[in-house]
Amino acid sequence: MQHEQLLIVDFGSQVTKLIARRVREMGVYSEIHPFNKVDAKFLKSFNPKAVILSGGPSSVTEAGSPRADDLIFELGVPVLGICYGQQTMCAQLGGAVETSEEKEFGRADLNIVEKSRLFEGLESTERVWMSHGDRVSNIPQGFEIIAKSENAPYAAIEDATRNFYGVQFHPEVVHTVNGAKMLRNFTHNISGFKGDWTMAAFKDEAIAAIREQVGDGKVICGLSGGVDSSVAAVLIHEAIKEQLTCVYVDTGMMRKGESDQVVSLFREHYNISLIHVDAEDQFLGLLDGVTDPEEKRKIIGGTFIDIFEREAKKVGGAKFLAQGTLYPDVIESVSFDGGPSVTIKSHHNVGGLPERMDLELVEPLRELFKDEVRALGRELGLHEDFVQRHPFPGPGLAIRCPGAISKDRLDILREADAVYLDQIRKHGLYSEIWQAFAVLLPVQTVGVMGDGRTYDYVLALRAVTSTDGMTADYYPYSHEFLSETATRIINECRGVNRVVYDVTSKPPGTIEWE
Ligand code: XMP
Repeated sequence: MQHEQLLIVDFGSQVTKLIARRVREMGVYSEIHPFNKVDAKFLKSFNPKAVILSGGPSSVTEAGSPRADDLIFELGVPVLGICYGQQTMCAQLGGAVETSEEKEFGRADLNIVEKSRLFEGLESTERVWMSHGDRVSNIPQGFEIIAKSENAPYAAIEDATRNFYGVQFHPEVVHTVNGAKMLRNFTHNISGFKGDWTMAAFKDEAIAAIREQVGDGKVICGLSGGVDSSVAAVLIHEAIKEQLTCVYVDTGMMRKGESDQVVSLFREHYNISLIHVDAEDQFLGLLDGVTDPEEKRKIIGGTFIDIFEREAKKVGGAKFLAQGTLYPDVIESVSFDGGPSVTIKSHHNVGGLPERMDLELVEPLRELFKDEVRALGRELGLHEDFVQRHPFPGPGLAIRCPGAISKDRLDILREADAVYLDQIRKHGLYSEIWQAFAVLLPVQTVGVMGDGRTYDYVLALRAVTSTDGMTADYYPYSHEFLSETATRIINECRGVNRVVYDVTSKPPGTIEWE
């Protein structure tokens, strides 16, 4: 990477990822690394132009609580400590932290009491978001207070000579109204970043990195029909042309029309060599009678790998498997202290890959968030309709068909899902929604149609808004839309006689049902 880089040292806050997003939105490349992995050797190779210390759940007052490597304060680069980051910075530089009686959670008013470059262009009172039990009680030498709040007398502090800043609140969350401006003041005014993280620059670097990794080896790329694997494929094709072969596996669990769309996009528009594997019988056979969601995922992940390995041999010994793994998948699968994190689902393109796999991974999107992948897709000339496609999970409709899977049930789901998406497009809602899909429940209920009794499946509709799939809200459709859609589905799709709408956000739900 030739970019100027900002290092985010993670102490385990739920919102650390948002720091990276905000900073990148300003054209500054940043990476998150767990506090205990940031040591002298790491700092030398990463060579940050500035450092942000994240918040975290621990208390500085407890023995053995996490600390930043002291070397960070000797690099001669600006440092911004947020919440726990501020507290550990104070503790490490000779100040003090106490556990406070008055805890502060939620919105608070910040009174800016000293002129500071961190608050340039802001009002003297700013609405911020606090979430802390501990607070700084004594600041280290060289620091001064630049802002206070009712329960945090050291709500913001600075050492302007060393360019060290500490804030008790969270500038990275949207509830801190001018948080993005504060972060920009830190990155651009204080740290001197030029904001050179653009998709054009990323594209050139990624192409060079792919060429270096792959040499003259052959690569196969699994295409799912989703945005990520498609963008990865087009990018890799730009880098290594005919060394790339794409493999589209029709698992029998794709959406209506999906196979034709993918095959025509890659063969006809991009002239990328594409193998279309019809593996419906293989997948459905292996999944026969399987109801446990994790078992389904593991079977599907393992079968994909078997197929990729088989196809890799056929294309003259491909050594590499390309995937569209994204940054949230990477950071969701590593916990902040580098230890194993709780597995909610084994996403088969990250954690679920069998260790036995003989292929080396090429993952050019590993550092990108979804919106960045879309921007890269545009940069590569992918059509807007394609770039805007809703995400579609690798295991496909298998995880939208709770209970045992059968071709009959999948066919019902495919039809109903197509009607649902048609409704969303007709009403102009597609681009407002992060992801929408139908789920066919393993439950039959009694209905009446015409003069007859029906005993058919229940279909659940899901639609969520989100920025990166890590948290989500259900989409607030109008009642008219819901009733029109339910009527169309029941009239047009055999096998469904009842439609329900899922109003669960994430958390506590996940986006998919399995
Ligand atoms: P959840 O259901 O975990 O999903 O809230 C978050 C996002 O990830 C997608 N998803 C997957 N994508 N392989 C994928 O490529 C998978 O195994 C997988 N499982 C879930 C999901 O559709 C949503 O966009």
